[in-house]
Amino acid sequence: MAFSNFDTHAFLRDYWQKKPLLIRGAFGNWANPLDPDDLAGLACEDHVEARLITLDRERWEAEHGPFPEDRFGALGKMPWTLLVQAVDHHVPAVAALIDDFRFVPNWRIDDVMVSYASDGGGVGPHFDHYDVFLIQGLGQRRWQVGPRCDEATPLLPHDDLRLLADFRPTDEWLLEPGDILYVPPRFAHNGVAVGDDCMTYSIGFRAPSRAELIGGWADDLLESLVDDDRYEDPQLKVQANPGEIGAEALAALHAMVTEKLGDKAAFARWFGEYSSTRKYPEVDWGPEEPFTAQELREALAGGEPLLRNPASRFSFVRGEAGAVLLFVDGESYDCSGVTAAFAEHLCAGSVVEAGPDVVKSDPAMDLIATLFNQGSLGFDEG
Ligand code: SIN
Ligand code: CO
Repeated sequence: MAFSNFDTHAFLRDYWQKKPLLIRGAFGNWANPLDPDDLAGLACEDHVEARLITLDRERWEAEHGPFPEDRFGALGKMPWTLLVQAVDHHVPAVAALIDDFRFVPNWRIDDVMVSYASDGGGVGPHFDHYDVFLIQGLGQRRWQVGPRCDEATPLLPHDDLRLLADFRPTDEWLLEPGDILYVPPRFAHNGVAVGDDCMTYSIGFRAPSRAELIGGWADDLLESLVDDDRYEDPQLKVQANPGEIGAEALAALHAMVTEKLGDKAAFARWFGEYSSTRKYPEVDWGPEEPFTAQELREALAGGEPLLRNPASRFSFVRGEAGAVLLFVDGESYDCSGVTAAFAEHLCAGSVVEAGPDVVKSDPAMDLIATLFNQGSLGFDEG
């Protein structure tokens, strides 16, 4: 599947982070990539994050998985929806949906949540903190969107669900398979299944909060700071009032903080490692016995492509003189020459071929062996 009817440049300019957009028939050849029974099967597995939301006479209830296999058959006529997180980590055809959205950088992409709803099912009117593309996969869903919300927007009292107390839709559409609704962060929205067998694929994004950035970066810095790195004042002068924290002292104290926090190269390394850390480390592709660089070299020389583990995260920053700092699953790798070019190639697409220069390069093969043996890369085993 691929977009046949969607201008990504115009979308980024006019809608991304700005306003909702309905995209009718964005895929020329939409085919629902996952069977509802297989989704239910995933929701019964340990290590898969799943929720079941039911609406029983105006009362919203949320249950968390894993679910017993007979749970869904027992729901009867009340509207319900099952939501499964990170389905792309388990189902390659769902992971492939992300390929069309790669006009957004890897580090902003979260995962694909898939929902299945019975007639009338939904999660209720709410807002999310992130952008989302809601692809209608199977059946029909009525989507309504409303204004942008904030922390002050009133919510219904509920232990588990953040539902809007007063949702006033401004637009409404009935989505058919292959239609997409884009909803920017904090816009109120509500999707209700029209008829049974309604499946929605949510391509979800992420954006760090300032609190998360400051907290995470400061924690990282703290690990390298020593106790005797301390305020010093060998030029101390008598001051008129000993109670004053003088301007010079304040400036020196402030500089002690900002010099460290302002180190851009160290920040880039920390942020790359932080943002490439896996959300679900359980999806383990690591081989039972580690491969040697030589064994991998032989396989790659035979034309075998490498696949990125969909649960792994890949990104890079450019350094000086063609150097590349590669980030994979929370670790950073300094790359130059052939390895730097390969690192960029690795970040660009989910299937990666290693050319003859890569196969000949010892540093490139060492990098591949490390990534392969830790399960970030693998071969297609069908
Ligand atoms: C759904 O798939 O039903 C819910 C997605 C959302 O509203 O965020
Ligand atoms: Co939502």
